[in-house]
Amino acid sequence: MKKDLISVMDAAAEIHDLLDLAARLKIERGDHERPLDGKTLAMIFEKSSTRTRVSFELAMTELGGHAMFLGANDMQLGRGETVADTAKVLSRYVHGIMYRARSNQMMRELAANSTVPVISGLDDLEHPCQALADLLTVKERKGGLRGLRLVYMGDGNNVCNSLMLAAAAAGMDMTACTPEGRMPDRAIGDKAAALAKETGGSVELSHDPREAARGADVLYTDVWVSMGDGTDSVMARSIFSPYSIDEGMLSLAAEDAIVLHCLPAHRGEEISAGAMDGPQSAVFDQAENRLHAQKAVLHWLLR
Ligand code: CP
Repeated sequence: MKKDLISVMDAAAEIHDLLDLAARLKIERGDHERPLDGKTLAMIFEKSSTRTRVSFELAMTELGGHAMFLGANDMQLGRGETVADTAKVLSRYVHGIMYRARSNQMMRELAANSTVPVISGLDDLEHPCQALADLLTVKERKGGLRGLRLVYMGDGNNVCNSLMLAAAAAGMDMTACTPEGRMPDRAIGDKAAALAKETGGSVELSHDPREAARGADVLYTDVWVSMGDGTDSVMARSIFSPYSIDEGMLSLAAEDAIVLHCLPAHRGEEISAGAMDGPQSAVFDQAENRLHAQKAVLHWLLR
């Protein structure tokens, strides 16, 4: 039976194996096996992308396969053909589908109608490949994951949702620190809390950025207004500015804390230039690690 990766939950049981595989493929880059010879990944984008597009295409090439970029507006999907029919047709041609979708409902509809693995390149609920790259980065910098305190600051969005699940699956102590009206998805929070009980980790919600930042091993943030989110930018500044990661907040964290951001970043908003470009930032390692983490995912699902 085919497997998909549309939620971190789809990979929760394999998370440590996937991170180990990603780390090996990173070390052996240019010299590792090419198990996807003759395989093609269709990549459907309903939203714009730099990292997801480039890293998936490169990952397929370096694993011996081929990736095909499909902008939704250049397909019949953009003219009303259903997601279900698109999934059925693409399944007759390709070996896997990477989908950056407008909604989790469309993602699930595509996966339900596809006979080949479907990998999420983000939807409005989750961004699982980003979370794998995030944990790979923490593991590289800190030498492990279990027992580390990861604090996410800002909007309780798709990145935050997937990070809660991934951190819980890895046995980390995760705090999602958001304004009251912008908390992460409640059902995902419940799943993450249940998962953390099994792994010895923990999941907490907070609205107090200074208290949450105290002693953190990892401080993580994302843009205040995500793609497709209608929040007004003046309103966003008033809600989110106390959650901005700057030098003051960083001074509350552990002395050797690292700073993460999934990018693209807005310096002077959710993160200061000093935090983003300073010695504690692992942001560009994190961006590079999208490539290695996704290679592990493709290896796992398409080989
Ligand atoms: N972080 C992330 O998904 O980047 P892109 O939107 O550029 O793909």
